[in-house]
Amino acid sequence: MADSDELRGRLAALETELVHIPSLDPRGLEAAEVRLLGRKQGALTEILKLLPGLPPDQRRTVGGEANRLKQVLEAAVVARKAELAQAATAAAARGLDLTMPGRLRHGGGVHPVTTVVEEIVAIFHGLGFARAGGPEAETEWYNFGALNFPPDHPAMDLHDTLYLDIPDRRGPAERRRNRSSGVASDFERRDLSDRREREQGRWLLRTHTSPVQIRVLQQEPPPVRVVIPGWVYRKDTFDASHAPVFAQIEGLAVDEGITFVDLKATLSHFAREFFGARTSVRFRPSFFPFTEPSAEMDVSCGVCGGKGCPACKGTGWMEILGAGMVHPTVLANCGVDPERYTGFAFGMGPGRIALNRYGIPDIRLLYEGDMRFLQQFGLRAPGELA
Ligand code: DAH
Repeated sequence: MADSDELRGRLAALETELVHIPSLDPRGLEAAEVRLLGRKQGALTEILKLLPGLPPDQRRTVGGEANRLKQVLEAAVVARKAELAQAATAAAARGLDLTMPGRLRHGGGVHPVTTVVEEIVAIFHGLGFARAGGPEAETEWYNFGALNFPPDHPAMDLHDTLYLDIPDRRGPAERRRNRSSGVASDFERRDLSDRREREQGRWLLRTHTSPVQIRVLQQEPPPVRVVIPGWVYRKDTFDASHAPVFAQIEGLAVDEGITFVDLKATLSHFAREFFGARTSVRFRPSFFPFTEPSAEMDVSCGVCGGKGCPACKGTGWMEILGAGMVHPTVLANCGVDPERYTGFAFGMGPGRIALNRYGIPDIRLLYEGDMRFLQQFGLRAPGELA
């Protein structure tokens, strides 16, 4: 025997659902229609099925309330459907499809090599060094000759340097057109610049950022203080410790009265800023064609504090950069008077520094773009909301 009070309670509960209907989305509305009004198991259908079990007078009043609620609910569903259909039509007219799933946002992050480059540039910025840049396709003159490499230097060897095969871009029609003209034609002008290019030697992908020292000194007279981050190329097989393309940061300071003391003080300050105040540095004599004297700088190993560990191969030191006093011939090659000006230069590999700092065992991880690696530095995979 059904209980009229219980059925009234269930009707009252259903009535509260009315307020939600005007804000349902298409999928929610469809679900609500099935749940409330469905012919088989809809909540209202269930109540109507129980009516015959009530005494006749109660059956009439409860039945009347149930039917009224049924009509109200049906009307609300129909009204919401019409509203949604209208919104969809309006959106479609503006080229929108409201049923398409939303786009996932890709969260960005900064690559570890970029982080290291920006920190290094910022430290030198604080010391008055500006940021400079230069082309990745260079001539033999800029990459080697102007930097005082002897003409037969092994670095110029095909095994180390990637040479560019730059084709003659002039078409046959252009050559013919220019041949008979009286004035200096584009063709002749281009011939002149071709000759200049021949004097510059072959085209290549720069093997270091040092050629930008030449370009900077040619463009502005001293005093000059610049740091030059950039990509460099070498004909190396991609393995755990070599990449055919990698990042370098070059530094150059040229002014009156610059000495090796400025070099040591500047680079020691940099090391303590970047690696921490307790870092020790040491300079070892070295050789580069474009500096004299030349040195390499080591910093105490950040992993073991200098005691010796696998990261520093037991030595307690990590080699960080090459440096030296700019060779007088290099200054003269740029039109700078070596009697009046002196300078120091340095070059380092931020990729190697990133490997050390983050304990990354293989340089390929830096350049392969594997999301599983990059996510550890703040890059998020598609689907993860930022
Ligand atoms: N260009 C050198 C290299 O690629 C690095 C270097 C060493 C740059 C000493 C310098 C320097 O400016 O003074 O290995």
